[in-house]
Amino acid sequence: MKIVFVASESVPYSKTGGLADVVGALPKALASLGYEVEVFLPRYRITKPGAVVPGAGSLTVPLSAGFKFAAIQIAGEVNGVRTYLMECPELFDRDQLYMANGKDYPDNGGRFAAFSMAALEFIKRSSTPPAVIHCHDWQSALVPVYLRSLYLDDPFYANTSVLFTIHNIGYQGLFPPEIMPQISINKDLFRIEGLEYYGKLNLLKGGIVFSDFVSTVSQKYAQEIQTDEFGHGLEGVLRSRADHLIGILNGVDYEDWNPATDKLIPANYTPEGMQGKASCKKVLLQKLGIQDPVMERPVLGIVSRFVKQKGFDLIAQVADELLREEIYVVALGTGEPEYEELFLSMAEKYPEKFLVKVAYDDTLAHQIEAGADMFLMPSRYEPCGLNQIYSMKYGTVPVVRATGGLDDTVQPFDGEKGTGFRFRQYSPVALLACLQRAIATFRDRDTWSRLQQNCMREDFSWTQSAKKYAALYETLYATSAQGRASSAVPFS
Ligand code: ADP
Ligand code: GLC
Repeated sequence: MKIVFVASESVPYSKTGGLADVVGALPKALASLGYEVEVFLPRYRITKPGAVVPGAGSLTVPLSAGFKFAAIQIAGEVNGVRTYLMECPELFDRDQLYMANGKDYPDNGGRFAAFSMAALEFIKRSSTPPAVIHCHDWQSALVPVYLRSLYLDDPFYANTSVLFTIHNIGYQGLFPPEIMPQISINKDLFRIEGLEYYGKLNLLKGGIVFSDFVSTVSQKYAQEIQTDEFGHGLEGVLRSRADHLIGILNGVDYEDWNPATDKLIPANYTPEGMQGKASCKKVLLQKLGIQDPVMERPVLGIVSRFVKQKGFDLIAQVADELLREEIYVVALGTGEPEYEELFLSMAEKYPEKFLVKVAYDDTLAHQIEAGADMFLMPSRYEPCGLNQIYSMKYGTVPVVRATGGLDDTVQPFDGEKGTGFRFRQYSPVALLACLQRAIATFRDRDTWSRLQQNCMREDFSWTQSAKKYAALYETLYATSAQGRASSAVPFS
């Protein structure tokens, strides 16, 4: 069975967040289960040239605004997964993937419309239609929309289903309806049962409405997004599709994130031999300017996009009290100027304890996972979250708000069992109390080692989750063979 992933980012070609980790790892796991998997991505300026072989030909994208011409490159076949890159310099050869100077590129709608249509045009060149096209987030949400409108009668796609995965409902791809004629969206689709959303065109909503099945990246988040608190205005649409909505927890790729083999950290270690972790801690603190670190103090690590979702306003509110404790905080991130400034101001106020690097730095991200004692994620909402899972593997205890995937992956430590510390209410008081519990536990070395061992023995590899996706693909394949489920096609 052939599955084609269409997504806007994937390691090792491009990355802004966890989506890239998932699109880099899940296809590999599916290929090892015997599926034929292809991945279709844009080629950005940051995509390393060494990875790319020209040669899958060129393509004309017949968007109504005018034809776009693209070269398709093969990024090689790795672990049984063949990746194709759409090269269209006017759309993708830019400094960043989606934005410049904190503002979305104004032509994002046109960019990802062209990308989605290019995917459908490119897939058609193969002799075998895919059983499932697996799309991710708003950037590829027009794939199912086009498939069920422009390509509705295309015999090549007669038995192809679409699975749409929501990685983050906070990013919906909202555009003025005036762009519809340019991106080949018929005005009939601009209604409440279609892509209309409070007077705007909502691409993510299109993905939810027009796909055969919708998934998201943890079971808890699948429930949460059906509520007013977490649905970002799409809770009603999601409730109407509840029987076609599933939560499948992300896995992680332990080939990239494993302290026993990680080449980016100064010393390797395992649950049986933890000495390397102390070296990682020391080198990390020295790298960030503390020449003679106090090793008895816990290091609280943060690696994140600096955006509202991640709950850092709570840290700012407890900073004065928290930093009375004998601790270090080490934070790495980039994002919205407001949050970058917040971190920099805390670093300025507490130069001996609060160490911040505003950057995107993969090596430092690994070094924080290894060198920190705890990992902090006080998210307002978190569809899955990968860093808390990486942290566990590195014996770095997660301290999290119990929401979405954080709630599904971190089990409260009771002195014996459990893997971390959680707080439920989104409040500074709850965060502080939770951190104080974690810090007190850290001082009891035996108990802390037990907790670290619990963390390191958890297994979140893709094997289980890939099987759940496989089961879903099989169901979609069987359903399309019997004729498409009418409930999945709102306009027939
Ligand atoms: P999200 O996708 O919401 O950003 P996740 O926890 O799922 O959150 O994934 C974040 C991924 O991005 C992780 O692999 C993390 O290490 C990485 N990351 C985030 N910010 C940075 C940064 N500044 N430097 C390096 N890696 C980062
Ligand atoms: C999103 C979410 C994050 C999730 C990632 C991968 O960016 O914010 O929680 O882990 O996608 O699914």
